[in-house]
Amino acid sequence: MFENMFRMDGKVAVVTGAAFGIGRSFAIGLAEYGAHVVCLDRNRERLDETVGLIRQSRNSAEAIVGDVADEKSVAANWAEIAAAHKRIDILINNAGIATKVVRTHEFDIEDWDRLMAINLRGVFLTTQQALKLMLPGPGSIINIASIAGLLGYWPGFPALGINYSTSKAGVVGFTKQVAAEYAKEHIRVNAIAPGWHGGTDLGAARRSSLTPDDIARFEKSIGDRIPMGHRAKPDDLVGLAVYLASDASHYVTGQVIAHDGGWSEIVA
Ligand SMILES: NC(=O)c1ccc[n+]([C@@H]2O[C@H](COP(=O)([O-])OP(=O)(O)OC[C@H]3O[C@@H](n4cnc5c(N)ncnc54)[C@H](O)[C@@H]3O)[C@@H](O)[C@H]2O)c1
Repeated sequence: MFENMFRMDGKVAVVTGAAFGIGRSFAIGLAEYGAHVVCLDRNRERLDETVGLIRQSRNSAEAIVGDVADEKSVAANWAEIAAAHKRIDILINNAGIATKVVRTHEFDIEDWDRLMAINLRGVFLTTQQALKLMLPGPGSIINIASIAGLLGYWPGFPALGINYSTSKAGVVGFTKQVAAEYAKEHIRVNAIAPGWHGGTDLGAARRSSLTPDDIARFEKSIGDRIPMGHRAKPDDLVGLAVYLASDASHYVTGQVIAHDGGWSEIVA
């Protein structure tokens, strides 16, 4: 009776930032559960790899190259999606960056603007287009926030920039408001707040701005503080995304679910 509740056969999903890291895992996972996945990213080469992996497993996907921060690119991408599919059922707003890490009083204004344009404005621009293709409903939107948008972290140096934490807190507020606004239409809007997930490119800028000593201290401090004792991998997030995207969560909206091995519930 319940065995098909996670299936997404016949549904169209759009995943931004699908070329690598967590977005690639989401795209592969949703396709395995039957959705046709529109994989959107600005990195054409890696995007083609993602779509190739999905098709190799005889699942369905297509690639769209675009920049979520650029409204002309977003409008052109979504005109193409509308022409091909008429409506979409699922959106994962996953594309995001982190910049180099310095203390707030020394923070670079260009880095603030560049990150906000992708992590927050990009979520707004993409959601606006997606809603037009989901109405009159139903639909599921999943925004990728972060535990950095829920609480601060200061073990002697900043682990993430003030722009990153602020953008992810913004994603949380955005999620709650859009969820309230479209609940009547059964367009559900939830956020996942991942903790520390290894094997992606997100930390590259952080690593380049810290000394080897700081990196070692950072790795030790997060290892010590994660209650479950280890980092997660991008694939570990797929179960939660499949749950939120599918009808299994049809009465769940406006929620922010941390995926962090207990980090955000325990004071170290
Ligand atoms: N890795 C973690 O531990 C972690 C933790 C919390 C939240 N997150 C969030 O998860 C999401 C994915 O991060 P990741 O770790 O997989 O990073 P990643 O850098 O490995 O992948 C990000 C993807 O987004 C794409 N992208 C970046 N800017 C874009 C733009 N303007 N337009 C289109 N595509 C763009 C990149 O090309 C890349 O393929 C981000 O929103 C990130 O903030 C990650």
